[in-house]
Amino acid sequence: AASPEALSLIRPDDWHLHVRDGVALQAVLAHSAAQFGRAMIMPNLNPPVRTLADASAYRERILAALPPGSNFEPLMTLYLTDQTAPDEIVRAQASGIVHGVGEAFLAGATTNSAFGVSDFARCDEVFAAMQEVGLPLLLHGEVTDPAVDVYDRERVFIDLHLSRIVARFPRLKVVLEHITTREAVEFVTQAGPLVAATITAHHLLYSRNALFSGGLRPHYYCLPVLKREQHRLALLEAATSGNPKFFLGTDSAPHAAHLKEHASACAGCYTAHAALELYAEAFESVGALERLEGFASFYGADFYGLPRHTERVTLRRQRWEVPASYPFGQAELKPLRAGEALDWRLDN
Ligand code: NCD
Ligand code: DOR
Repeated sequence: AASPEALSLIRPDDWHLHVRDGVALQAVLAHSAAQFGRAMIMPNLNPPVRTLADASAYRERILAALPPGSNFEPLMTLYLTDQTAPDEIVRAQASGIVHGVGEAFLAGATTNSAFGVSDFARCDEVFAAMQEVGLPLLLHGEVTDPAVDVYDRERVFIDLHLSRIVARFPRLKVVLEHITTREAVEFVTQAGPLVAATITAHHLLYSRNALFSGGLRPHYYCLPVLKREQHRLALLEAATSGNPKFFLGTDSAPHAAHLKEHASACAGCYTAHAALELYAEAFESVGALERLEGFASFYGADFYGLPRHTERVTLRRQRWEVPASYPFGQAELKPLRAGEALDWRLDN
C-alpha cells in the first residue's frame, strides 16, 4: 500500500471550525457538510455566542443553511467571557447541543476576541462547573501580552496558563486548539488522558516561510501564526503517530479576499473546500496515509464521548485544480491553494 489509488475511511469530523453567519455562512457551509459528519462550531461571531439561547439560535441558522438532505451535525460551543456564569454552563451541558466552551481566547488574541477573558484566573468558578458537569474547555493557546514575541505566544501560554488550569482542574477535559509548536506537542503528550489537541492541515503543510515566499502572502496568515520548520515536523509527527490525543480540527476561517489582501490582513486560512485532501497530502508526505482515519474519524469522537460514524467516504488519487476563488456574499473567498493542483479528491 505504498501509494494507493484510493483510501476508504469512516466519515471524519472537524473538531474546530469557523462558519460565520448570514451570507458568509451560506457561502461556506456546504464545503464542510460535504466532507464531515459533524463539526465543533466556533462561537466568535460579532457579538459572540455567549449563552445557551445564542447557541440554540445559531444552531438553527446553521441547520437552515445546510444543503437539502445533509445529515451534517453542528456541535455548538459557548464563548468564554469574564461574565460567563456557572449556571449557564450547567444549562448548556444539559441541553445536549453545546459540546464545549471555547475557543476560549484571552481578549485581543484574534478575530472577534475583544469579548474574551481578561485573565483565566478569574474563570475558576466556571472551570469548576465545567469540570463538574463534564463540559470540555477549548483553548486558543496564545498570550496577548504585546511584550511577548508573536512566535513565542503559544509556548508562554502553556507555561503561564495551561499548566495552571490542568493542575488545578485535573478532571476537566481540555483541548489545546490548532497547536503550532513542538512545546505544545510535548505538553499534550505528557499530560493525562483528558488533555488533547487539534491540528490544522495548514500547520501540517506549511512553515512560516510560506508567509514570505516571493512577497508577503496574506492567505497563509492565520493565528497562531505558522512557525518554523522544526515545529511543523513535530506537528506532523504527532498527527501521524497514532496517539489519540491528537485529532483533526481545520480551523478553516473564511474572510473576504479584500480583507486579507489588505494593509491589516485578517487572520485565517480557508481550507474547508479541500480539508481532507490537504490532510491526505500531509499524511502521505511521511508515508502515513493509514494513520489518517484514526486522526480524522476516531480520536476526536472518542475524546468527546460521541459515537464514531459508521458510514464511509473515499478519497481518490485524482488531480484537480482548486478554483481561484469562491463567491462569498458580494465578496470573494480565496481558498488555500487557489488555482493550484491537489492530488487527492474526496468522492461526493
Ligand atoms: C451518519 C454517520 O455517518 O454517522 N451519517 C452521516 O453523518 N452522513 C449515519 C451513520 O452513522 O452511518
Ligand atoms: O486564523 C485564525 N482565524 N485564527 C483564529 O484564532 C480565529 C480565526 C478566525 O475566526 O478568523
